[in-house]
Amino acid sequence: MSQPEQTILVTGGAGYIGSHAVRALQRAGYRVIVLDNLSAGHRELIEPLQVELIVGDVSDRPFLDDLFATHSIAAVMHFAAYIAVGESVTDPAKYYHNNVVGTLTLLEAMVAASVKTFVFSSTCALYGVPKFVPITEEHPQDPISPYATTKWMVERILADFDAAYGLKSVRFRYFNAAGADPEGLLGEDHSPETHLIPLVLLAALGKLPAIKIFGTDYPTEDGTCIRDYIHVADLAQAHVLGLKYLLDGGDSDVFNLGNGSGFSVRQVIEAAQQVTGKEIKTVESDRRPGDPSILVGSSEKARNILGWQPQYANLNKILAHAWQWHTHRHGQS
Ligand code: UFG
Repeated sequence: MSQPEQTILVTGGAGYIGSHAVRALQRAGYRVIVLDNLSAGHRELIEPLQVELIVGDVSDRPFLDDLFATHSIAAVMHFAAYIAVGESVTDPAKYYHNNVVGTLTLLEAMVAASVKTFVFSSTCALYGVPKFVPITEEHPQDPISPYATTKWMVERILADFDAAYGLKSVRFRYFNAAGADPEGLLGEDHSPETHLIPLVLLAALGKLPAIKIFGTDYPTEDGTCIRDYIHVADLAQAHVLGLKYLLDGGDSDVFNLGNGSGFSVRQVIEAAQQVTGKEIKTVESDRRPGDPSILVGSSEKARNILGWQPQYANLNKILAHAWQWHTHRHGQS
């Protein structure tokens, strides 16, 4: 049974989506321990959350065995992964090692410690180039980057671990996570930054001379790529619901998380100009390899089964919260 005082281990909890999940778990009354090797996460990011941080790596089996032996952990939420699609093409070993071998090591340690509840951060990138939109969970899977393949492989491992060891998991396939904590406590800080919304806001702040538009000849109304942007706080809330579902005896399952409506790169820039009140310069550039023209998801299943109801399904809200974080971070609030 789901009981709020249970302890949840959040790997990658010092990163962007993981830290928002920590906040959502704390709000729901859970005790949280963060496991992060701080290769991409930030100790200072989660300081306001006053959460226990254990610095370590999910690939370190003796360390994990010790962690599970010394803490009573009810479930694991796993966010620790490398996420840059382009880098995964040039350095796949880094991605397979961390995202697959690291996750496998974590899962083996969990089974050995009889911790059998797992919430996994997956991606809509495993669908590949969409054959239809909105994309449902039944859409064929055909990952086109090593990054997406790592997530696809872990999903397969999870199915086999359920059948063989009874490890129950919820896999969430995110569309484009964006925005920041509505109260301004947390936000997005990748290094290097590759995502559209933070780059657009950095351009608005004058930290970048202009935003490059990657491709203007896509088969969309304005020629730029369309994406389904979902507020990170809504993503985090879905994780709490997925956790409760499993702790209450739910069977392993997979859910898309998106808003079901798409915005083009130009529309995002236009909306960011409105929200920030700043002019944002653009430079039309070549297509970025591996970008499908449209990614929009259906999250009906998460709504129906988990009762998920996004609170911030609105691009301007997403941008406003991200802007609040960026202006504060760069001392312009
Ligand atoms: N884009 C630009 N200029 C930029 C950055 C991005 O035009 O400077 C465009 C991209 O080409 C794309 C759109 O903005 O069309 C969104 O790009 P992001 O990099 O923000 O996001 P992606 O859709 O490429 O990728 C994100 C996550 C992945 C995840 C994927 C699933 O970063 O981890 O969503 O869709 F797998």
